[in-house]
Amino acid sequence: MGFFGDLFKKAEPTNVTVKGSGETFVVPVGMNLMKAAINAKIAWPHSCKVGSCGSCRTVIVSGDGYYPSSPCDPTTLIKPEEAEKGMVIACQWYPKGGDMEVEVAIGTEGDKRGMI
Ligand code: FES
Repeated sequence: MGFFGDLFKKAEPTNVTVKGSGETFVVPVGMNLMKAAINAKIAWPHSCKVGSCGSCRTVIVSGDGYYPSSPCDPTTLIKPEEAEKGMVIACQWYPKGGDMEVEVAIGTEGDKRGMI
């Protein structure tokens, strides 16, 4: 692909696998990681769904994504050493497509450290 091909590369869905427990699901373009998991009936740890409690924290083992710009910064719920391991706030984080592996304790309530 040339320059323009790369620039306008079509966004693609993301194929996610949960490390260890092995659940798989697809994140459509423009959907956050946790919403897609819950749509797929996966018991993702969560509480607030709006980026304030921290219980949906997830380690991204491989793959790429981003937080849309917003007035509140969900990364304040993540300690620097966790951010280094690739931890994200899954209810606010959007995968960029391709294959992804994540680490999260499916079926638990997660650890709320922020406000709910
Ligand atoms: S569910 Fe509360 S921060 Fe994501």
